[in-house]
Amino acid sequence: MAVLDGQTLAKKIRANIKDEIKKFVDMGKRPPGLAVVLVGEDPASQLYVSMKEKACKQVGMYSKKVLLPQDISESELLDNIHDLNEDPNIDGILVQLPLPRGLNEHVINENIKTDKDVDGFSPVNFGKLHLGISGFEPCTPKGIIRLLKEYGIKIEGKNAVVVGRSNIVGKPIAALLLRENATVTICHSKTENLKDYTLRADILVSAVGKAHIIKSDMIKEGAVVVDAGTTKVEGKLYGDCDYENMLAKASWITPVPGGVGPMTIAMLLENTMEAYKKHVF
Ligand code: GUN
Repeated sequence: MAVLDGQTLAKKIRANIKDEIKKFVDMGKRPPGLAVVLVGEDPASQLYVSMKEKACKQVGMYSKKVLLPQDISESELLDNIHDLNEDPNIDGILVQLPLPRGLNEHVINENIKTDKDVDGFSPVNFGKLHLGISGFEPCTPKGIIRLLKEYGIKIEGKNAVVVGRSNIVGKPIAALLLRENATVTICHSKTENLKDYTLRADILVSAVGKAHIIKSDMIKEGAVVVDAGTTKVEGKLYGDCDYENMLAKASWITPVPGGVGPMTIAMLLENTMEAYKKHVF
């Protein structure tokens, strides 16, 4: 067993971005700007947003946090989005999900300008992903592929099993694995006999958000296990996978925390850099 160390790779990526930004600012350019919109006061979302803000500052990006009340109307939220679409100092816009009940995330994502949609959740970028056309790729799936490639893990021809069909991770990671020529199966809450599928996985990606839903007897010897689920139980963070008991069986495995999570933020910064370069040069 060996650990897929997302923390170390993310650090390296952030250091490169920091150097690049310094170079542009020294040339007299404005810094890249990311707006993070948080609606309501969900504690997990507050934590994610503050981590994203901190990461921006650390690399020298301008970060604008837009905090909006839980009971905001859709049209008021859209007014905020439209202002950010027009803001010349903002290259990327991210609306933290999940949104409070009553707000339709699809309507919101549809209104983020395609060239500022650094989360890749707007219909245009999400469509491009499935068509195999270049566009912004959702950060967590992009980070997973980067991590696998960094460690030289072969994807082509492998049986990749994705557990979870969310728009944030499950569906887009399936599309990216398919693009890498894996044979992809998507399992979800209605899948019967989940274990029959997971046992066949050369690469297993779990993105469910239920602590230790994947046990060690559900993976095959030598599997590559990517855990993109996080759940807090009584203040402690758990992944979807029973990491400790899988260590002896998996060939590679991502820890929680320190695996996929840091890569998500690194890819957000990378997508924002990509948007910035298109806006500034
Ligand atoms: N909530 C959980 N993951 C994400 C993400 O990658 N982007 C956004 N906007 N919200 C999330």
